[in-house]
Amino acid sequence: MFFYMPSSPELTITQPSIADGAEMWRIARDSKELDLNASYSYLLMARDFWSTSVIAKVSGKPAGFVTGFLRPSAPNTLVVWQVAVDQDHRGKGIARQMLQALVDRCSRQGVWFLETTITPDNNASIGLFTSLAEQVRAPIVRTDLFASDHFPDEHKPEQLYRIGPWSTYEGRS
Ligand SMILES: CC(C)(COP(=O)(O)OP(=O)(O)OC[C@H]1O[C@@H](n2cnc3c(N)ncnc32)[C@H](O)[C@@H]1OP(=O)(O)O)[C@@H](O)C(=O)NCCC(=O)NCCS
Repeated sequence: MFFYMPSSPELTITQPSIADGAEMWRIARDSKELDLNASYSYLLMARDFWSTSVIAKVSGKPAGFVTGFLRPSAPNTLVVWQVAVDQDHRGKGIARQMLQALVDRCSRQGVWFLETTITPDNNASIGLFTSLAEQVRAPIVRTDLFASDHFPDEHKPEQLYRIGPWSTYEGRS
């Protein structure tokens, strides 16, 4: 079990459990921005990828989540799959703290890079990951990854943001 010391007493940031999977799906659905995956996938992430995922709760109620995994071909790299915070709780640093909690945790396991993909028009996400890179004092490199015509359906292109290494960064203990 891991806990992160958040900025307010009402906020908890912990690993998700299977019981949180349904709310993670609900938060993704309500974001209106994320690709909504099968509800099954959120339960699976909570069961098998809990160590690289987090859930944020405000006064015990789920308010945001991050799902991620270690890249199989590069296990020093945390891939952040989805991050979302409920509308009512945005702008309070919850997403940044969730990512910080993951970086702190994964750094202790030899992870020094973070990758995520962002559509070019998602300014909130670009702002979030740019802020994280500044916080861990690591470079951020952007490259094209998935073009629209890679997708079988209508989909915006996804650019890869690679942050790291943050080897000089000392996370919270
Ligand atoms: C992206 C999202 C998770 C940010 O959550 P949040 O809790 O409001 O973000 P935070 O308050 O932690 O802000 C972290 C940083 O991102 C920046 N940011 C947040 N929203 C922003 C916006 N709309 N435009 C520009 N920058 C923004 C903040 O300025 C902050 O930077 P700072 O630390 O330098 O001040 C939230 O807007 C969301 O759920 N969006 C819909 C889902 C989505 O697009 N997810 C990302 C793609 S996977």
